[in-house]
Amino acid sequence: MKKTLQGTTVLHNGVKMPYFGFGTYKVKEGEEVYNAVRTALETGYRLIDTAALYENEEGVGRAIRDSGIPREEIFVTTKVWNSDQGYDSTLRAFETSLKKLDIGYIDLYLIHWAIKGKYLDTWKALVELYKEGRVRAIGVSNFQIHHLQDIMDHFDEIPTVNQVELHPYLTQEELREFCAKHNIKVEAWSPLGRGRLLDLPELKRIAEKYGKTPAQVVLRWHVQNDIIVIPKSVHPERIKENADIFDFELSDEDMAAINRLNRNERFGKDPDHVDF
Ligand SMILES: NC(=O)c1ccc[n+]([C@@H]2O[C@H](COP(=O)([O-])OP(=O)(O)OC[C@H]3O[C@@H](n4cnc5c(N)ncnc54)[C@H](OP(=O)(O)O)[C@@H]3O)[C@@H](O)[C@H]2O)c1
Repeated sequence: MKKTLQGTTVLHNGVKMPYFGFGTYKVKEGEEVYNAVRTALETGYRLIDTAALYENEEGVGRAIRDSGIPREEIFVTTKVWNSDQGYDSTLRAFETSLKKLDIGYIDLYLIHWAIKGKYLDTWKALVELYKEGRVRAIGVSNFQIHHLQDIMDHFDEIPTVNQVELHPYLTQEELREFCAKHNIKVEAWSPLGRGRLLDLPELKRIAEKYGKTPAQVVLRWHVQNDIIVIPKSVHPERIKENADIFDFELSDEDMAAINRLNRNERFGKDPDHVDF
């Protein structure tokens, strides 16, 4: 099927979610996040990813409101931070995020990390928010297979999305297979490996062949693997470059060559050892 910048995937509850979006981690509250999100929306991005942790929900919301794009055409994700986990505190954190964003509703609410002893209560709160129609979809982030299994053992309502670190050095084959089996969409954070993989000779070789940049090749690889991606940049030219990946297709051979770069190497924290 042909992929497009505003193309969507269907979550297991029937909600459509764009598979290409914009990340805002470390994008500063105020003008920086406002300008970056405005540029992303003008470029055609329709998925914006934020989190309470990023402390930029107000700027994200203002950029969305000022964009002139109908609210229902934009899909917004935010996340409950670790220190707010637990049933009552999650319900309160949701209200705070909703108020800061000030865009009427949140499309997707995620548990940021699987905090031991707390994430089941947190999930209970998310299920309640979903059942009350306060949020269109609920999901998780940084959940390993055993965390997902634990949720499934305790609840009928299972996550629609699992947002995890995923890039050519960490291809997450086993987790992806598990998620596919249970109809949980996988979303890649640090899809560009935080920009640290872009000098790899193999990526440069493939990029040259298609007349594209290594960043574009990596993002295209994600999209062809049916992974939702949310690259971040504060530079308008990179925001545009990253979205310009829908006019070429990587061959099976080049997809396999990128798969082979895997080293099971994380740039971020190991979800089984969360100490923050
Ligand atoms: N759920 C979680 O725990 C979690 C964790 C981390 C991230 N996330 C989400 O995932 C999003 C993306 O991850 P990320 O921000 O960590 O990393 P990323 O998108 O893989 O990479 C961002 C880095 O790459 C640079 N960059 C972007 N486009 C580039 C290009 N075309 N050429 C060269 N360099 C480029 C950016 O620099 P400039 O900005 O200077 O251009 C930035 O330093 C986040 O923003 C956030 O929304 C979620």
